Amino acid sequence: MEKETFYITTAIDYVNGLPHIGHAYEKIASDVIARHFKQRGKDVFFLTGSDEHGIKIQKTAQDLGISPKEHCDKTSSEFKKAWKKADIDYNRYIRTTDTDHEKLVQWAFEELLKRGDIYKSSYTGLYCNGCEAFLSPRELDENGFCPIHKKKPQEVKEENYFFKLSKYKDAIAEHIKKNPKFILPKSRENEILNQLKDIEDISVSRSKNSVNWSIDVLSDSNQGIYVWIDALSNYITGVGFLEDKEKFMKYWPCDVHVIGKDILKFHSIYWIGFLMALGIELPKTIFAHGWITIDETKMSKSLGNVISIDTLMENFNLENADPIRYFLLTTASFGKDGNYSDEDFKSKVNADLANNLGNLLNRTLSMLVKYFDGKISFSGNSYIDKELLALCQNTVREVERKFDYYEITEAIEAIIHLVDITNKYVNDRAPWTLAKTDLQACEKVLYNVLEVMKYTSILLYPVIPNISQKIYNQLGFNGQIKDIQLKDLENLNLKIGQIATKESIKPVFLRLDSEIAQDKKKK
Ligand code: ME8
Ligand code: MG
Repeated sequence: MEKETFYITTAIDYVNGLPHIGHAYEKIASDVIARHFKQRGKDVFFLTGSDEHGIKIQKTAQDLGISPKEHCDKTSSEFKKAWKKADIDYNRYIRTTDTDHEKLVQWAFEELLKRGDIYKSSYTGLYCNGCEAFLSPRELDENGFCPIHKKKPQEVKEENYFFKLSKYKDAIAEHIKKNPKFILPKSRENEILNQLKDIEDISVSRSKNSVNWSIDVLSDSNQGIYVWIDALSNYITGVGFLEDKEKFMKYWPCDVHVIGKDILKFHSIYWIGFLMALGIELPKTIFAHGWITIDETKMSKSLGNVISIDTLMENFNLENADPIRYFLLTTASFGKDGNYSDEDFKSKVNADLANNLGNLLNRTLSMLVKYFDGKISFSGNSYIDKELLALCQNTVREVERKFDYYEITEAIEAIIHLVDITNKYVNDRAPWTLAKTDLQACEKVLYNVLEVMKYTSILLYPVIPNISQKIYNQLGFNGQIKDIQLKDLENLNLKIGQIATKESIKPVFLRLDSEIAQDKKKK
């Protein structure tokens, strides 16, 4: 039987600036979801990439005195480098300048023209370069500025092509209401239903004179296809809509588009309208995450408070991005806004990863070496404390239930709760005292903790793949933790015999040394 598939996408980032931890947050969250569903035996396809056309990029390249393509090549490779550092294990990095994508966009445009859903009309509108979109006067703030970019939109008068979005607005509203998992978190649904009421037809092309860096309209070379049709269609190019029908049939419809709340309207209204007009099945879920702020302010180049994965790894002397991944996903419930500060970062990862998780493994293995030569003499479910085993099994189910709604933060909390309970279990049983009175009871306690660590390392693997691999190996397992599925957990027994030596026990995560970090930062 073929494996069930799972298709996940991120927003594609504008390459007018360098990657920061806000972009990283979304890619990390998506990577965690992708890894989790692989653990559930799904055939996962994970798409990410960059959005390379439009006026913002044209201008950025112009200011730098290089061609737009040259600029896109450079910047997209910086994004790819950052994702490599962050251990983002995607299947394809799509660029909207890729040939298959340009072909697809031209095809989609002509198809919509043919179907009568795109028409030409002259237009005067207020264009926000930041949003790459026309704004209706109602959307502006009290100063007549774009509420997101705090800039006055430009008045633009042009002959453009329009997409008949208004024709689909009732069908879109109905779809949203009928499908409770279509917009997540659920709390954002109303905002979109309200915005739908005001929806008018949207401009989908710009004159080549005003925006030159765009994909040409095939049948009208004076017009270029403008941002949203181009950008959004990456989700179907990415799984072979034009060039590999079999692959497309296999993965489409998309299981989840993970995007920021600022572009939810484009995904849950524009994209859905395009797909309805093209007669393509709709994605199952659009998940809108919140903003990552720095010291409670929005990251921006002008404020000079942009932080990248690179800077964090350097400042804190990190060997991998696990602590950053962990922090970003726990600083706020996924879906809400979260904040980064050096202080919070240090205290959170030191508390959870070093003290709570790392120390538990470390002291348990140390006792195993001290009292039992690093050997265990039995293995299997029948030796596990019934309550603890039930808690492990319930945690697996709980984590799955949370991930079904992409509630990553709550899933992590459930795993950390298991670690807390186990720490308490060790303290209550005091195996160091049992070692003097009842060796067998002592061994049982240590064995139980190691069993929980087996569950924990596998459950946390999607979030902290490197640290989890280390835990897994120190438990005496060989091989790659990524190959283990959640369903394997019950029959995956610890090895009877020697699993640890004094030398094999190493901290899986070193506390972030604040002094080193601060020193480095001053330089
Ligand atoms: O919107 N915190 O690109 P983009 C959290 N090209 N997420 C953030 C963030 C922050 N501080 N800053 C940005 C675009 N993001 C379009 C998307 S999709 C077909 C086209 C998120 O580079 C943002 O919400 O402005 C978006 O999901 C992604 O990064 C790319 O933003
Ligand atoms: Mg943006």
